[in-house]
Amino acid sequence: IDGEGGKHFDLRMQTGHSELLSGKRTETWGVNGAYLGPTIRANTGDHVTMHVTNDLPEASSLHWHGMRLPASMDGGPHQEVAPKQTWTPEWTVKQPAASLWYHPHPHGKTAKHVYQGVSGMFLIDDPESRNLGLPGDYGVDDIPLVIQDKKFAPDGSLDFSRAGGLGDAVGAGGTGILGDTILVNGTHDPRLSVTSELTRLRVLNGSTARIYNIGFDDNRAFQVIASDSGLLPAPESRERILLSPGERAEIVVRLAPGEAPVLRSFPGGLDAGFPTDRFAGGDDTFDLIQLRAGDDLGQDAVVPATLARGEQLQAPPEARVRRFELGGRSSINGQSMDMSRIDEVVAAGATEIWEIVGGGGPHNFHIHDVAFRILDIDGEPPAAWQAGRKDTVYLPPGKTVRVVVDFGTDVDPDVPYMYHCHLLYHEDSGMMGQFVIV
Ligand code: C2O
Ligand code: CU
Ligand code: CU
Repeated sequence: IDGEGGKHFDLRMQTGHSELLSGKRTETWGVNGAYLGPTIRANTGDHVTMHVTNDLPEASSLHWHGMRLPASMDGGPHQEVAPKQTWTPEWTVKQPAASLWYHPHPHGKTAKHVYQGVSGMFLIDDPESRNLGLPGDYGVDDIPLVIQDKKFAPDGSLDFSRAGGLGDAVGAGGTGILGDTILVNGTHDPRLSVTSELTRLRVLNGSTARIYNIGFDDNRAFQVIASDSGLLPAPESRERILLSPGERAEIVVRLAPGEAPVLRSFPGGLDAGFPTDRFAGGDDTFDLIQLRAGDDLGQDAVVPATLARGEQLQAPPEARVRRFELGGRSSINGQSMDMSRIDEVVAAGATEIWEIVGGGGPHNFHIHDVAFRILDIDGEPPAAWQAGRKDTVYLPPGKTVRVVVDFGTDVDPDVPYMYHCHLLYHEDSGMMGQFVIV
């Protein structure tokens, strides 16, 4: 949806029923519909106003994941909306083109609300990226793919049980809900008719816990053009990309007439070793979506050699370093989330290095309000496609990831932003902390 009259958007979180599996009726939640929500579009520089109404039976929130905005507009656990109430945040979009998303963030219940279907994509456009000539015809050659795994009970209802195996140890039941059925944009086993040579896929891992190692069944290479928070400086040709929950990548794939490759999630990539890989879903294979090219393909899009211009995020020599150690499934630096405790105080506009140390199983790390760049993963520089603007990063077990973080300038000593593991069972269990900008 495009906003009307000064970019006002009406978003209603609601309950409903969906036919997610053919012939079965599933109780679901969604935004302006029974499952998932509309794709929101705005331009850099727009002033946007959201009218978020909660028609769910319990308090929830909508968080604008990846958005730079004042903490009081962020939609985290401090901005919960009670049932039947409307919350009206507004802000000016101050960041470059990117594929962001929105999802609930109620304290301790984020996994449940996301799993039931409340989320959607939030695309930011700007003139420079529009003029690059990339595929950009929404729904035709520019396709959002919200990838989610589900477990269904025989009667079609959603199964909320966590992965079994080793009790609550991280890597087993401790990972969270791991479904055996993949939905893409709410559709099981989808196909996409392709009508042009190049197709841009904006892939979001919108799952609660599952990590995907994504590529095509014929191992064809594709161009990665963007990471979480915007275009890369240059495209990188890849056969696989790993996306942990909350991460996004934009890829462009070339099809010849009549081809029908399947986008698939392959085993491997978690870097967790046996048996953690298996219990955390790292040995699984899933087909995500089949692309089917027609016999006559148009070609008017290109992937230019230069995408984002401008400076890469650099750490000044005197940059402050903060260290975060993830523990079990419920703590960071030995403490669990406390809504009334401010963990970190950051100076407005600061550039800092955050050094994040993984725990015993797969985790990741997301920081609200910022874009960051990965400096190294266990001392090694990241692949080019991971070296762009990001807000969420995968943490292989026991490894240290260093990121250079560009903080915002919306000062508010009283309202914190969150940082947390985006495996939502962990977030809900307390693997989350709070920072304020002063
Ligand atoms: Cu995508 Cu704190 O969340
Ligand atoms: Cu976020
Ligand atoms: Cu975690």
